[in-house]
Amino acid sequence: MESGSKQMTARLMLAVGGAVMGSLQFGYNTGVINAPQEVIESFYNLTWYDRYGEYISRGTLTTLWSLSVSIFSIGGMIGAFSVGLFVNRFGRRNSMLMSNSLAFLASVLMGFSKMASSFEMLILGRFIIGVYSGLTTGFVPMYVGEVSPTALRGAMGTLHQLAVVVGILIAQIFGMDLIMGNESLWPLLLGFIFIFALIQSILLPFAPESPRFLLINRNEENKAKSVLKKLRGTTDVSSDLQEMKEESRQMMREKKVTILELFRSPMYRQPILIAIVLQLSQQLSGINAVFYYSTKIFSKAGVKQPVYATIGAGVVNTAFTVVSLFVVERAGRRTLHLIGLAGMAGCAVLMTIALALLDQLDWMSYISIIAIFGFVAFFEIGPGPIPWFIVAELFSQGPRPSAFAVAGLANWTSNFIVGMGFQYIEELCKAYVFIIFVVLLILFFIFTYFKVPETKGRTFDEIASEFRQGSAGQADNKTPDEFHSLGADSQV
Ligand SMILES: *[C@@H]1O[C@H](CO)[C@@H](O)[C@H](O)[C@H]1NC(C)=O
Repeated sequence: MESGSKQMTARLMLAVGGAVMGSLQFGYNTGVINAPQEVIESFYNLTWYDRYGEYISRGTLTTLWSLSVSIFSIGGMIGAFSVGLFVNRFGRRNSMLMSNSLAFLASVLMGFSKMASSFEMLILGRFIIGVYSGLTTGFVPMYVGEVSPTALRGAMGTLHQLAVVVGILIAQIFGMDLIMGNESLWPLLLGFIFIFALIQSILLPFAPESPRFLLINRNEENKAKSVLKKLRGTTDVSSDLQEMKEESRQMMREKKVTILELFRSPMYRQPILIAIVLQLSQQLSGINAVFYYSTKIFSKAGVKQPVYATIGAGVVNTAFTVVSLFVVERAGRRTLHLIGLAGMAGCAVLMTIALALLDQLDWMSYISIIAIFGFVAFFEIGPGPIPWFIVAELFSQGPRPSAFAVAGLANWTSNFIVGMGFQYIEELCKAYVFIIFVVLLILFFIFTYFKVPETKGRTFDEIASEFRQGSAGQADNKTPDEFHSLGADSQV
């Protein structure tokens, strides 16, 4: 059944490698503001003093820093919504190339903000690199999926996810005091992003445009053919062409569903609600409280070298992303999501205990490290990957683009809320801040248990009929099915 080659050609490697530079960029910027928070805050303080003749107040500093962190997500939201404007007009590869101008601009703004004594430049740079990141989370999976042969598509697709977490890790390591996370080098740490943009700008011109774009959007069959030949390393690419045509014919058959229709039609109302809540469960789980603020969290938890603990969290994150790449393909989505949520809730409870008892027991700081590592690991098992899988599997071709737009909006919005709000809530709740995530995680667990159907290995019709019966939580009935699929269909 699997048509086309399984071959990994040099051209394919170049295309995928160039593309995932964007994923690396996204990850880097997610993790980069974590470790150097204190040094950059002191820059804000001094700049404030130079301008207004007084030190910045705690409240203003919290606001400015929270904004610097979270405005990234506002940019991301705008970027994610603009993906469609670019990919069908300019092509996938050229869209990625063009978006690098944003990365260069952001690099200059952030890299020179200290020299210019302007935190506004840093904040604007964070916004712009956020737009880039929103775009790239749309561009990269699309392009990688379209240049890869069917047999390699799954494996290549996971490279995006992997590059994101590696990007976070790189940023955490570079953010160490003795590398770039210090008073003199932090502008370089933030400006460093031009390297990723530069590498991508050098690689991508040698990578081909997506053959699917050439064939379907541009109707240039000969060009598509010659690109495919290079990508596949064979002269016979007729099966690939055939497959693309078939796929596009299928897409034509199904009417495109607008965002408004998604909410109006009773057929889509429940699936879109599920898609939104699952995205919220990813972000409101508190994961970005860790990726944005873990160094500060660890230092409040009495950890002596908080930056090392942050790097440790990045390593755990990367390791468990790899684990999840293998698990997600085989196990049921719903089960994994439930395990992830429950595990995160347990770790958040542990974290609360560690913070609350820190005054009495010194060694609680180690417990907090274990709690955060576990929190991150369980995230990568469930709430990290699963919400996107389920959106893709809940909606067929017609409503899928709109569903992804809504899901993306929900994701970036809740990402913003956590980035912006965490420090305030933390000041308010002190040691009990993670209790909020415990409550949210439990609510998401209950929702998932009762409302989210298993989507793995089932057709859209089967899932839809389950919605009509109004019984999504028949987990027990599915056990044999799931058991079967654990090993049986890994080749799909
Ligand atoms: C700003 O810097 C001054 C001098 O180093 C310091 O006393 C003050 O606590 C700082 N303000 C904040 C909010 O960190």
